[in-house]
Amino acid sequence: MQRFLSIVLLSALTAFGIGCVHEPVPPTGTPGFSPTPMTVGKLNVPLGLPPFPADVLATMTEEGVELGRHLFFDPGLSADSTLSCAGCHHIDAGTVDGDNAVSIGIDGIAGTRNSMPLFNLAYAVDFAITTEGVPIGGFFWDSRAQTLKDQVLMPIEDPIEMHNTLGDAIAHVNRMDVYRSMFWNAFGDSLATPDRMADALAQYLHSILSGNAPFDRYINAVEFWDDDALDGYESFSALEPLGADCIHCHTPGGLFTTFEIRNNALEPYTRKEQFTDLGLGAVTGDTIDYGKFKVPTLRNIALTAPYMHDGRFATLREVLEHYNEGLHETSFSDPLMKYADQGGMQFSEADLDVLEAFLLSLTDDSLALKPQYQNPWPE
Ligand code: HEC
Ligand code: HEC
Repeated sequence: MQRFLSIVLLSALTAFGIGCVHEPVPPTGTPGFSPTPMTVGKLNVPLGLPPFPADVLATMTEEGVELGRHLFFDPGLSADSTLSCAGCHHIDAGTVDGDNAVSIGIDGIAGTRNSMPLFNLAYAVDFAITTEGVPIGGFFWDSRAQTLKDQVLMPIEDPIEMHNTLGDAIAHVNRMDVYRSMFWNAFGDSLATPDRMADALAQYLHSILSGNAPFDRYINAVEFWDDDALDGYESFSALEPLGADCIHCHTPGGLFTTFEIRNNALEPYTRKEQFTDLGLGAVTGDTIDYGKFKVPTLRNIALTAPYMHDGRFATLREVLEHYNEGLHETSFSDPLMKYADQGGMQFSEADLDVLEAFLLSLTDDSLALKPQYQNPWPE
């Protein structure tokens, strides 16, 4: 009965989302300048996602998204013209960079963090503190960028990523004729500026959506459930003492994250000097934020190994083993890690098998095939 109810509820939410269409107001003022407002229909929101946010849609035009896509795939933004944004965010690898535990920049120097997925960012929120005092939103594992527009130019200047200056990246863009018409079409002015580049990159990232996984098709009764995945879903969504109790942070259905910034009991550390990465704690300087990282989405999790902010776990099974018997209860670990006091869920291997089957049902095979997310430049 419980299973039936949750399926009906989720289906109703999804149906509402698809029926909801918002018309943005096109910008006016420049003679002859009339960009095409983006629409929910054109975005083709996949099954399983919440309604596309109207305020985000209002900032998007087809020309802006198209310009952003060209910038995202342009290695000319890096100092030696070898590495584009897409070089570390491969669309066919769930928008991360393959098997690297940490990303490697143009000088061959390894960073300290695992690349992050860039789909469904339209639903992400700017950094804030909730009324319950919980940090939420922002961008990067430690949420050091408050908004997506703050974030998108940072990799260009990051010395271990694209290692360029913003001035040189903009000079490169302004040298290319093809960009002049694209900037005019998107902004009514052919000159590239940092603000317009950030705006276009954010528009493109907002257009990348991923849903329609086997999980979404089961929930919406388009396909039959796989028994193991269903058992895993129930365990994932159920609270302790019987369920795996993942739902406080990775909301089942929709986006599979609350966007909150939390400490999932990875480290045994009790003192600041012991941490190699303080996460949000390094940004705010607050002791209570030590070891807190953004709760990542679990969509396409089968494609985005290795896992965690530093890529420490090579396989999904290793992640499940962490939650099963590797938790460290400290003054920093989150109170929502309900099993931390006993080191983890202490499930049997069979129980972990079904959880894994559920996580594997979150893969969107159509993501890498959509022409609107591909490299627009001629090979
Ligand atoms: C050298 C590899 C590399 C390149 C090149 C790169 N990124 Fe990233 N990206 C990463 C890594 C690693 C992270 C996580 C870094 C962190 O948390 O400190 C990240 C995080 C992000 C995030 C945060 C997502 C979230 O949910 O918080 C966005 C957005 C992003 N990158 C966009 C871009 C854009 C736009 C470009 C090009 C201008 C780009 N990246 C170039 C590796 C790269
Ligand atoms: C208290 C909140 C919380 C709970 C409960 C929780 N997680 Fe997480 N999860 C996180 C955070 C935070 C991270 C990222 C931590 C990091 O990178 O250091 C994460 C990371 C992950 C990752 C790696 C994702 C990636 O892209 O690298 C997986 C997989 C995962 N969790 C699955 C689960 C499962 C399965 C459960 C239930 C057994 C669960 N989580 C319970 C907060 C939580």
